Amino acid sequence: MTTETKKIGILTSGGDCSGLNAAIRGVVFAAIAKGWEVIGIYNSTDGLFSRPMKYKKLTISEFDYPYASLGGTMLGTNNSGNPHIQEKADGTTENLTDEELDERFQSGIKELGISALVVVGGDGSMAIISKFCKRAGISMIGIPKTIDNDAPGTDIAIGFETAVNVVMDSLDKLTTTATSHNRVMIAEVMGRGAGHLALSAGIAGYADVILIPEIDYTYEGVVKKLQEIKAQGKKYGLIVISEGIKSPEGKHHFATNGKTFGGVSAIFAEKLQKDGYNVRATVLGHVQRAGNPVSDDRILASEFAVRAVDLIEKGETNRVVIHKDGEVKDEALNTILKIANTPVDPKGKLVYTARQLGIYVGE
Ligand code: F6P
Repeated sequence: MTTETKKIGILTSGGDCSGLNAAIRGVVFAAIAKGWEVIGIYNSTDGLFSRPMKYKKLTISEFDYPYASLGGTMLGTNNSGNPHIQEKADGTTENLTDEELDERFQSGIKELGISALVVVGGDGSMAIISKFCKRAGISMIGIPKTIDNDAPGTDIAIGFETAVNVVMDSLDKLTTTATSHNRVMIAEVMGRGAGHLALSAGIAGYADVILIPEIDYTYEGVVKKLQEIKAQGKKYGLIVISEGIKSPEGKHHFATNGKTFGGVSAIFAEKLQKDGYNVRATVLGHVQRAGNPVSDDRILASEFAVRAVDLIEKGETNRVVIHKDGEVKDEALNTILKIANTPVDPKGKLVYTARQLGIYVGE
């Protein structure tokens, strides 16, 4: 056991989700219990790249109710993927070269006296930040988060369970109005190329149809299911669509930013409407990344945080904490980076469960 580490940094990176504040809290509490100091870096690495730097010493009182019980991240985050553009003190921006970014990271770390950095983020952020940490001569420990739950190497990431609950709650709400109007409701769920959120929430929210990117479907299969439930006496229908599926015409649809998926549910609604269905589509959007973290996320975040601080104490670097086979473990970042993002297993137990329940999940 080393007693050298006295000051560590923490930042959140990539899209936010619920449970990030719980993770920050966990790291701060576990580190302070060891007599260390924790510096929270604002807006991912931007807090280190900008001048003046943006950071805050985090103390126990920072987490007085309700902050760690809220969604979002008290440190801010960034998923723009371009650290070169930094805001200056006067509000204007500057365009930094790779060398300048490196220099700022290293001088920032030195000035703050940080000997290890905890990165709560996606694997992409961890890969980039680990290189800066290596050149700055400090250790980096990653904590995975994503509502998409496709983070490589871990069975579960922070944010997923809360998002499942948010979507389930939305499906319950859509169902009440669907029953009032005898309608087919389509809910479009986030997930990028992975259908974990749609599949779990669709089962929990009692959907009739769940379409995910990992499993091909036919429009005829969807209509057949709607006819079947009608014949069974059900007056409404609930279709859950993962944003990353292709429309019946075989195309992906994108949000107004042109980068992230969005809008496929409207295409579906239009087609069903033409075929005589009373249908409405709802894009659940960013509410899925919000809400107070559920207990599963708070516990996971706390377990991950404690593991991360333990790893720093042991002098480890470039490790990612993971949850595998029911246990919290850790893995080398390099190994994690060689693993692809984890899609839904079409032969997995949740797809089997959905099928046995009569949910149409594709062919
Ligand atoms: O990866 C998380 C996620 O919420 C995806 O499910 C979604 O497609 C994307 O981020 C949205 O990103 P943004 O916040 O940039 O709109």
